Amino acid sequence: MNEKILAILRDATTYVSGEDISKKLGISRSAVWKHIQELRHQGYDIVAVPHLGYELTSVPDKLLPSEISFGLNTKIIGGEIHHYDTVSSSMDIAMDLAMKGCKEGAVVCVEGQYKGRGRLSRFWSSPKNRGVYLSIILRPNISPAQSPKLTLLSAVGVCQAIKNITKLECLIKWPNDLIINNKKVGGILTEMNAEMDVIKFVIIGIGVNANTPESLLPPRATSLKEQLGKRISRIELTREILKSIENEYILFRKEGFKSIIEKWKKFSTTLGHRVKVQFHKEYLEGEALDIDTDGALLVRRDSGFVERVTAGDIIKVR
Ligand code: BTN
Repeated sequence: MNEKILAILRDATTYVSGEDISKKLGISRSAVWKHIQELRHQGYDIVAVPHLGYELTSVPDKLLPSEISFGLNTKIIGGEIHHYDTVSSSMDIAMDLAMKGCKEGAVVCVEGQYKGRGRLSRFWSSPKNRGVYLSIILRPNISPAQSPKLTLLSAVGVCQAIKNITKLECLIKWPNDLIINNKKVGGILTEMNAEMDVIKFVIIGIGVNANTPESLLPPRATSLKEQLGKRISRIELTREILKSIENEYILFRKEGFKSIIEKWKKFSTTLGHRVKVQFHKEYLEGEALDIDTDGALLVRRDSGFVERVTAGDIIKVR
């Protein structure tokens, strides 16, 4: 009901009377008042003027389902959106929902995380109300070995979304670091639940430093706000990320991975460069030639031998 009242207030060009809302929705005027109070409690500014009615004057800067789904128009991703204030990690909540059988495309958005996690068991700094932290549950009909494709697909989607919203030049460092001006602005973590040959579900975790000051971020990280010189709407960015990943996911299901790889290569800041790749305590140096059809990085050592790298971190690029 809150969302229906919001829709009426959003559509209105002037005040809407409590009586009009109650007639449209078939509820009493005191019920309308109760819902308006709930919305105010969520952070919506709704002015009430005697004899005129209600006016929505501002919406909260929170990743609320009612805000994200407004104008979302997706078919799969975001059909169900869950919002939490501060949690350990959106991945934990998404895992729980997926185990309980939620639909494909369910999304968990959180304002802050105290155990945000990144790739290779790293900590992901998630200061409250500053970044976009979300997890998407997918149930693709692919084998577990193909799951890295979804990570690359998501990196393409998020990179495109950042470009659309900010017009900044966002690039991807293999496998899925989002980079602006040589600094990390976001990342993607994929976790899955699978049997031998079949994936039960995959959780795509996305973290973007949206309005975070660099002082709250690790070294060599940045935020969209720092790069743009002004705050961005986390709600618009989240909506754009969901739309963009859905586009890539639908393309992947229809046409396979080929067109995604082509886009990934266009966004790549890795290919064609000399790289040093670290995996645990091992290093590999050479030229990053290409990525293969499974998303693995092909690195030519100075000896000429081409190695296929499936996991690790690029610690040096020239
Ligand atoms: C990385 O670059 O290492 C991946 C970072 C992924 C962070 C996101 S924030 C939302 C989701 N919840 C988490 O705990 N991690 C991912």
